[in-house]
Amino acid sequence: MDMIGLYPTWFEPGVGSGWIVGFIATIHVLFSHTSVGAAIFFAWLANHAHRHHKPELLEFIRRYGLFLLVFSYVLGSITGPGIWFSTTVASPRGISALIHSFVWMWATEWVFFVIEVVGVYMLVYLAGKVDVKTHTRIAVIFGLTSYTTMLVIVGILSFMMWPGKAEWAETGGVLNAFYGPNTFAQLGMRTAFMFTMTAVVGGIVAGQFKDLALKKAIAGKLAWLGIVATLTGAAMFQWYLSTLPETAEVVLQNRLPAHFPMALMTVVAGTLAYFVLTLVQPRALVSGVAGVMTVAILVFGLWPEEVARESIRKPWVAGQYVYSNQVIGRDVPGMGVKSEIPTIEAHGFLKTLVFVPEALRAIDDGNRVEAGRLLALNTCSNCHSLSSTGIRPLRHYFPGSHTEADVAEYLQAALSGGNTLYMPQIPFNDEEARALASFILTLSPAAAVNTAQAATTVAKE
Ligand code: HEC
Repeated sequence: MDMIGLYPTWFEPGVGSGWIVGFIATIHVLFSHTSVGAAIFFAWLANHAHRHHKPELLEFIRRYGLFLLVFSYVLGSITGPGIWFSTTVASPRGISALIHSFVWMWATEWVFFVIEVVGVYMLVYLAGKVDVKTHTRIAVIFGLTSYTTMLVIVGILSFMMWPGKAEWAETGGVLNAFYGPNTFAQLGMRTAFMFTMTAVVGGIVAGQFKDLALKKAIAGKLAWLGIVATLTGAAMFQWYLSTLPETAEVVLQNRLPAHFPMALMTVVAGTLAYFVLTLVQPRALVSGVAGVMTVAILVFGLWPEEVARESIRKPWVAGQYVYSNQVIGRDVPGMGVKSEIPTIEAHGFLKTLVFVPEALRAIDDGNRVEAGRLLALNTCSNCHSLSSTGIRPLRHYFPGSHTEADVAEYLQAALSGGNTLYMPQIPFNDEEARALASFILTLSPAAAVNTAQAATTVAKE
């Protein structure tokens, strides 16, 4: 019999593995976008300073560069591998799918990343020590390589949502996977966002300038950069939404909290107001306020946006063929990948998963709940918390008076045929559905009482 080689599940009871990946990734996005945006801004500013004979502007590049070196590059370099570590255990087959499609893209990414890191050191430590032309050239190379790292990663990220071209599933091919309408819209959105962040974080550095004339000059440039970038970002977001497939729109409309559009609009308006204020009143550019703005955008703008992007990808984690619970849910002839659903339908999970304790391969009255727990861990826990905290706790869906049979019937109806848009097809046979149901009922205290009552009633009869 074919076995299904799922890796053991990383179970994080507090918030769930998905959120841990989310925390690390959101921080990484903040730092990486800020530094790519800053790199391009530096290239422009160095040229501008050179042409208009304003060497004092280079002092801003030097200080901002140093600030990024300490924050962005250190924290960015910790959270970058952090994403690899956390996603590799949270979603090993998702990562495997990306590596199988994009190994050379990633190699390219790292080459440019090395140039970028060397570039930031050269930019900071050679300021004033090499002639202006050379320094400007370093700035331009640094800017271009930084943006190249962004170009490559956005193609990979948008493949996680949707393979670039529909024919990819048949033909395979890295460019078919890489380029699609979603790629460019996402690139536009991220590009605008990175300049917004460059302008906000730049305020932390510029806020410390004592020289009022210099502060004013920098404040004006940052404010205009921020205003243009934020407005462009809002437009790019609309474009991005228009590239989403129909299924994503349904999920977006039905599954996101109602306050989501309002919250995003508030963040955009607040950010614009902040830039306008620092434009007309450069004294308002204070490091503390800029720091608060940075955190506000992180918490109220970036986090919800990343969460939304995650949800509209459901039930897939990569390429529309690896389910979030790691099962391969579709044939991809172009990659020689076969759906595992038929095997599971034929033999069940417990018989086919590799990492199942022998004692749980066959269900009986003694191990039913334990077998159910194993099924929940493997097939649900990636998206549903099994405790009372974290993401979409399973216990919330079955409060009160459900019987095991009710729940089992529900599970099969909702999941076995793959009829639920945002959940994977999870084909349980009768035995497994009952086992999972009995475990789910132990999660909700009220329901546990019901099962106990049902059991005593049966015993009395
Ligand atoms: C790909 C992620 C994913 C997986 C895996 C998953 N679910 Fe869900 N599930 C969701 C989402 C998203 C919702 C929408 C509910 C929400 O937003 O609160 C949901 C909703 C539900 C609901 C509420 C009813 C409904 O249809 O909206 C139940 C019950 C449920 N899931 C049970 C399960 C069980 C049991 C498993 C494992 C056998 C499972 N889910 C696996 C993502 C998932």
